[in-house]
Amino acid sequence: MSKISAAITAVGAYVPDYVLTNQILETMVDTNDEWITTRTGIKERRILKDEGKGTSYLAIKAAQDLINKKGIDPKDIELIIVATATPDMKAASTAAYTASEIGAVNAFSFDMDAACSSFLFGMSVAAGYIESGRYKNVLLIGADKMSSIINYKDRATCIIFGDGAGAVLFEPNDENLGLIDEYLRSDGTGREFLQATYGGSLYPLTPESMEKGGQYAHQEGKTVFKNAVFNMADATAKVLERNNLNKDTVSWLVAHQANKRIIDATAQRIDLAEEKVMMNIQKYGNTTSATLPLLLHDYESKLKKGDNLIFAAFGGGFNWGSIYLKWAYNSVN
Ligand code: UT7
Repeated sequence: MSKISAAITAVGAYVPDYVLTNQILETMVDTNDEWITTRTGIKERRILKDEGKGTSYLAIKAAQDLINKKGIDPKDIELIIVATATPDMKAASTAAYTASEIGAVNAFSFDMDAACSSFLFGMSVAAGYIESGRYKNVLLIGADKMSSIINYKDRATCIIFGDGAGAVLFEPNDENLGLIDEYLRSDGTGREFLQATYGGSLYPLTPESMEKGGQYAHQEGKTVFKNAVFNMADATAKVLERNNLNKDTVSWLVAHQANKRIIDATAQRIDLAEEKVMMNIQKYGNTTSATLPLLLHDYESKLKKGDNLIFAAFGGGFNWGSIYLKWAYNSVN
C-alpha cells in the first residue's frame, strides 16, 4: 500500500482594506520611509480598524475565500486549525467560532500558537492528521490581528506588523506530493526577547500594567534579528541537505515575512536566485501567522504541480524551522 502524503489542494486569503503606509507612520512616531524601507523592506501594511472585529473576522474571510474558490461544502470539513498569536479571547477558541460562522458544523477545531511560526508548525500538525489516515481534510488558517497588541507609539514594533489571514486545505495524496520533510525547533530561553508580557497567566492584566503598556508586544529587535537570521537559514539548509535539494531543484523559498534582510540572508545561505524567493513584505509587513499562506495566495498562479517549495519561519518563543513540500496542483487562473 502506498504511503498517504498530505498535500495542499486550495488556498484562500484576506487582508483588511485600510492601508497604513510608511508616510502615515512618519506622522505617528519618530521614523521615516527611508529607514523603514532599507532596514525592513516594508512600505505599507493592512490594519483591521473596525470596532468589534477580531482575528476571527480575518480567519472567516480567508476561509470563505478558499471555500468559494475550491467549491467545497463547509459541512464536509473535518478539522479546522487556526494558527494565531492573537486569538479573539482567552479560553474560547477562535477556531470554534470560525468553524460555526463558516458553517463547518461537522468539524472539530482548535487554535495553536507558536508566534510567528504558528502556521509552519500548523502545517506539520495538519499533515500529521492526514498522513495518519484519520481525517480526509484539514483546513489550516493563519490569522493575526497584530494591531490589537501593537503600541503605535513604539517605533521598534509598530513599523513592522500588520493584520491579515490566509487559509490552506490539506488533503490526502497518493502521488508523493505534499509535505515531504520538516525540521522544527524551539528554544524557550529566547522568550524574553519578543513577547507581550501582560495578559497571560504569569502576569495578568492590571490597571497598573496597562498604564505601562504591558499588554503590547515588545521586542529586542537586534537579538531577535540575529537569532532569526542564523536559525531560519540553518533550518533551511538542513532541509535541503537531508533531501538532496539544491539551488536548481528548489522551485520556491516561502519564508516568513518579518524583515527582508532575514529573508535575503536565508536565500543567500542556500544560494537561491532572487526570482525564486516569494516576497510580499513590502505590502503587508509582518502578519505573524498569516505571512506564509498570504505568500501562497499571491504566488498561486505561478505554482506548478511537482514544484519543490521550501518553507521557513522564525518567531517568538523562540520557535523556528523549515518544511519541504511538493506542490500538488496547477492553478486554473
Ligand atoms: O517575526 C519574527 C519576529 N521579528 C523579527 O524577526 C524582527 C527582527 N528584528 C528586526 O527586524 C530589526 O531588528 C528591526 C527592524 C526591528 C530594527 O532594525 P535594526 O537594524 O536592528 O535597528 P536597531 O534596533 O539596531 O536600531 C538602529 C538605529 C538606532 O539608532 P542609533 O542608536 O543607531 O542612533 C535606533 O534608535 O535605528 C534607530 N531606529 C529607528 N529609526 C527610525 C530604531 N527603530 C527605528 C525606526 N525609525 N522605526
